[in-house]
Amino acid sequence: MNHVNRVFTVDGQPFFPLGGQVHNSSGYNLAALDTAWKALEALDANTVEIPVYWGQVEPVEGQFDFSVLDDLLQGAREHGLKLMLLWFGTWKNGQMGYAPSWVKQDPDRFRRVISAGGYPLNVLSSHCRANLEADRRAYSELLKAIKEKDATEKTIIAVQIENEAGIRGSDRDYGPEATATFHSPVPAEMASLAAERPGTLIHAAWQAAGARESGSWPELFGWQAGEFMTAWQIAQYIEELAIAGKVVYDLPMTVNVWLGEQWRRLAGEYPSGGAVAKVLDIYKLAAPHVDLIAPDIYVSSSQAYRHACEAYNRADNPLFVPESGRAGSNAQQMFYALGEYDAIGYFCFGIESMLDPEGNLRPESAPVAASFRAARAAIPLLLAYQGTGRVHAIVQEENAVEQYLDLGDYIGWVRFIGPADRYPGGYLYPRPETPERARGLVIQADDHEFYLVGGPFRVQFKRKPAPDAEMTPAEAARLLSDEMPGMISVEEGRMDDDGTWHPLRERNGDEVSGGVWAEPRAGLVRAVLTH
Ligand code: DGJ
Repeated sequence: MNHVNRVFTVDGQPFFPLGGQVHNSSGYNLAALDTAWKALEALDANTVEIPVYWGQVEPVEGQFDFSVLDDLLQGAREHGLKLMLLWFGTWKNGQMGYAPSWVKQDPDRFRRVISAGGYPLNVLSSHCRANLEADRRAYSELLKAIKEKDATEKTIIAVQIENEAGIRGSDRDYGPEATATFHSPVPAEMASLAAERPGTLIHAAWQAAGARESGSWPELFGWQAGEFMTAWQIAQYIEELAIAGKVVYDLPMTVNVWLGEQWRRLAGEYPSGGAVAKVLDIYKLAAPHVDLIAPDIYVSSSQAYRHACEAYNRADNPLFVPESGRAGSNAQQMFYALGEYDAIGYFCFGIESMLDPEGNLRPESAPVAASFRAARAAIPLLLAYQGTGRVHAIVQEENAVEQYLDLGDYIGWVRFIGPADRYPGGYLYPRPETPERARGLVIQADDHEFYLVGGPFRVQFKRKPAPDAEMTPAEAARLLSDEMPGMISVEEGRMDDDGTWHPLRERNGDEVSGGVWAEPRAGLVRAVLTH
């Protein structure tokens, strides 16, 4: 049994959403989505993420028009896709771009964040009750509309509340209400959280400020108090939307995050109060109705990529990646998320731009699309084996020519060469012209049964001596000469959701003598070794 918290379901069964997010303004009308549907096909996606804009659905206060949902639902259904809606409400990338004009034009009622210099920012304040009430009403109307239009077909599988919430340009709101809160006692559960989580940055800040049991935000958290208070405040604000939405229609609800605290110095350079890793505990405490908090991962360094995966893959928060790059290193790194951090869903952003005007994949996006297709083929296996230690990420880091896997009775020697390199001059070395870095998954379904997807790489399975083996000279000689255990079968094929395997092409002879290879066009490869 695996222990992955599968937040997303379809027909009561765990579902692994894989696909793309459209550009910010493509959700306004169907015409703009034409390219998106084509790109989703190129990704072999099963789900699309599309925003719904507060300003569009409530153009006049209290007058709602959710007819856009009809178009989105029709498009998704026609293309056999599930749909995740993104609520662009109070926050869009730490600002207020998608709020209705009647909100934007009435700053006395719908108050803005005030910077330390006393200037209003282009951000609605989470300390203003009118903002919360207006957004919460619109959000709950959205859930009503979803229920009305989709309760039978259930095309919509989740809603993201806000988009990269936080304050761009300030650590906190310096307006009078927020400042009064800042100097008021920190809620007791927040103070206990700081005391109870040694090893976290919240605890360190609390200790550095004198480890008091109670006090105001700056008394408890020193110079980081502004960010922590804002996180607490925004998490509570989002929690109120989640509660209001779920009362109407109980869908999974998520929150996404603009990362940045690893490489930016101050909150405000990244949206302050967003659920960055260091304040994730605050969000988990203050927003229990949010099903998961998800990093938007656009970093190219593997170290930063894995850091993000590790931070958000917790017992109380499964990793879900709602946005990632449509070109570049994401083609490889996504397999870290799937293989090593049990990601329960994965999306890339701005999918329309993956295609050229003729509708063909642009060269820079082709590797990402191939990786998504590989991941799609492996979904039944991901659902079955994530969380068991049997899913292994293959990622060719720069200059690497090989990787080793511990596969129970075997060591998997993975070389980053494809079928065309069967007898490469240097044996170990990929040809310099090998165009794509190797990436993919090796999944061990049983002691002697393996699935490979991705590429270009090949695996040689080397039998390990059993721990209790009597290593006679004869046995040692046998192992030394045992270049590869025998293969019962090596097949390319596909797997149904229920795990039924459909072989489409057999390999034998020359095609298995140098190991079992994977390449994107081969789809899923199954190898059964002799015992
Ligand atoms: C992250 C945001 O969430 C998206 O809406 C979009 O603005 C992308 N960044 C652009 O890269």
